[in-house]
Amino acid sequence: MNATVDLPLKPVSTLPGPKGWPLLGNFTQINFNEFHAQLERWADEYGDLYRFRLGPAEFLVSSDLDTINEILRERPHSFGRRVALERIFSELGFNGVFSSDDENWKRQRKIVITALNSSHLHQFYDSMRATTERLQRRWTRAAHTGETVDLCDDLMRYTVDVTTQLAFGIDFNTLETDGPIIQTHLDKVFPGLNRRLGSPIPYWRLFKLQQDRELDAAVAAIHTQVKEIVAQCRVRMRELPALSQEPTNFLEAMIAAQASEGLQFSDEDIVANMFTLLLAGEDTTANTLAWAIKYFIELPEEFQRVRREIDEVLGATQVPMTHQDLVRFRLVEAFANETMRLKPVAPLTVAESKHDLELAGYAVKPGTAVVLLNRRIALSARNFSNPETFALDRWLEKGNSDGRVHNARAFLPFGGGPRFCPGRNLALYEIKAVLAMFCRNFEAELVDPSREIEELFAFTMSPTNLFVRIRHRA
Ligand code: HEM
Repeated sequence: MNATVDLPLKPVSTLPGPKGWPLLGNFTQINFNEFHAQLERWADEYGDLYRFRLGPAEFLVSSDLDTINEILRERPHSFGRRVALERIFSELGFNGVFSSDDENWKRQRKIVITALNSSHLHQFYDSMRATTERLQRRWTRAAHTGETVDLCDDLMRYTVDVTTQLAFGIDFNTLETDGPIIQTHLDKVFPGLNRRLGSPIPYWRLFKLQQDRELDAAVAAIHTQVKEIVAQCRVRMRELPALSQEPTNFLEAMIAAQASEGLQFSDEDIVANMFTLLLAGEDTTANTLAWAIKYFIELPEEFQRVRREIDEVLGATQVPMTHQDLVRFRLVEAFANETMRLKPVAPLTVAESKHDLELAGYAVKPGTAVVLLNRRIALSARNFSNPETFALDRWLEKGNSDGRVHNARAFLPFGGGPRFCPGRNLALYEIKAVLAMFCRNFEAELVDPSREIEELFAFTMSPTNLFVRIRHRA
């Protein structure tokens, strides 16, 4: 990819792609609930670089390993997030580290990285263990009553409880609470965002449909809750001034930085980033866990292999007692990796060009969105042997010495480059802790095995119909 254009380059209009309509482009050919799968199917038909249109917006789609890695690395200079995304996030009042760009992004990123670094995670482990034990109690109850468990719902309660404790110092304890919870509002946000991002025109700025009113109401409810948390934190920090010197979580760090020179955050920034962490930390980790438990149910031999490792590491205990236990889980990590290779909750990334540049011999104008099909490269035989097979061993003996292909550059569940997911370590902690607790204590079966579990795309990719019955371990 070159910033300076010195060779005769082909116009992107000559790229292959599905034929669209005048004005609407390919809008009517896409079911946005399976956006990723449609783009993957078109890639099978049109190759590693093709184009499509949503109204006036031109999209290029790449499944070329080098191009994808290069674009991820070239942020924030040559590529950024979509300007449309930043605008939609701003309208909803959560333009934080995920959606912002350039200097604004840099100063927010710094503080998020610090809040989620390993030393904070180690100190936090006891709280996380207590939350894992709550989930264990919830599932013990379900095993006694035989009730149907909505796996994604339970796991989202877990991830919200963990994120809010770590990042805001607040314990919602949604795992042990009935009645309205913040997740019921959060659940509406990603599908709403997905709809708006796919819309060829921003009609909601002129009039609102029922779905827009619901999205606005959900966002308003979350804002109210988040603002209350900020107010409580300010009171705590006034009572304990030492917290300003040594903040113990992300929220305290942002409030403390508000006062410090050079790193000023507005009240809006604080609320936007709390919103961002809630959204970024909830669905992603919960859905990855849900996909992993689906594979536990489908692959009993692998399940038993993982269970043997967990039994060995945990000894007499029911959940991992320290963060060091998590480090010893090699098979659990392999299971998580294989789940994320086949069912990444972020199967694609969208980047927007910031200036004229060359991409694979084509002239790309500023403001062109390039969709990077991260999952497709992980499912290519060029990058992983027997790519469609769930194979734990590929993660245990990496490398190509025995003729197997294992290309780490094609495994991008957490993105890559300077905008790499800062929550990866936290996510892996949660995934390992919950999978270990599950294997050690429980088994599960689908309530209705005849209902297919499908991929639903709503900004992240989640499994549908994952209703299970949980039993105590035989
Ligand atoms: C399995 C769980 C998770 C997955 C698969 C995941 C995946 C991703 C991906 C693909 C991106 C975009 C990266 C890019 O543009 O290159 C991202 C960004 C981000 N994630 Fe995660 N994530 C997970 C969990 C978390 C958690 C637990 C948190 C924090 C509580 C978090 C916070 C963020 C933030 C703040 C960003 C924006 C980073 C930026 O733009 O600089 N994520 N994540």
